[in-house]
Amino acid sequence: MNEAGMNESCSVAPVITIDGPGGSGKGTIAQMIASALGWNLLDSGALYRVTALAARNHGVDMANPDALGVLAQHLDVQFLALESGGIKVVLEGEDVSNEIRTEEIGLMASRVATLPAVRDGLFERQKAFKDYPGLVADGRDMGTVVFVEAELKIYLTASAQERAERRFKQLQAKGMDAKLPQLLEAIESRDWQDMNRAIAPLKPADDAVEIDSTAMSIDDVYNAIIAEAKKRKMIK
Ligand code: C5P
Repeated sequence: MNEAGMNESCSVAPVITIDGPGGSGKGTIAQMIASALGWNLLDSGALYRVTALAARNHGVDMANPDALGVLAQHLDVQFLALESGGIKVVLEGEDVSNEIRTEEIGLMASRVATLPAVRDGLFERQKAFKDYPGLVADGRDMGTVVFVEAELKIYLTASAQERAERRFKQLQAKGMDAKLPQLLEAIESRDWQDMNRAIAPLKPADDAVEIDSTAMSIDDVYNAIIAEAKKRKMIK
């Protein structure tokens, strides 16, 4: 496709953004919607997690914003779509899909995500995911910063206790070590960090549809979002 064609397809591709705190179910829901519609999927949190992991692997000082910004901009990372609908995350040739999901890396990601140099370094990479036939993007600032033009913006929440329990089950299912009280503490401290940072804090976009999933099943949330997309004539 030539450059003009690429720009044209990018500009018409519809976007659904799903923002919310960690463990609210946005990753699972985004994956379900992208795979049902055959749209592209951006797990923006994975980019911040990979940046944190790369910093750890290369011994980059967490107190050096410039070095972290350069690292973010030049990440050698690939997102490979799996037949299961999931995504394999490959950093410098190594499958890091599980390694980036620990709470330790989540907290480090939340720290590097406070840095303007890191956010700027990842911005264009995120925009590039917007392509025909559409994009489902999940994160913290998808609707407020990266895809302000999105036709549908969802803000998905759930109580911290419920989110800790969900993450606990997720990690257990993957055979990873986890303890519920520590998970709850990590989730609450990450919420605080994400909501109170100066740049791109976690908050609903003014035009977001807010969904509290504490007492909802995954299918209920999925159906609610699909109904909103239909209401906006983004899909049939
Ligand atoms: O969504 P996930 O838990 O994988 O994100 C990890 C961390 O990356 C978040 O706690 C947040 O600090 C950061 N993040 C962000 N902006 C995004 C996505 C994630 O700041 N769009």
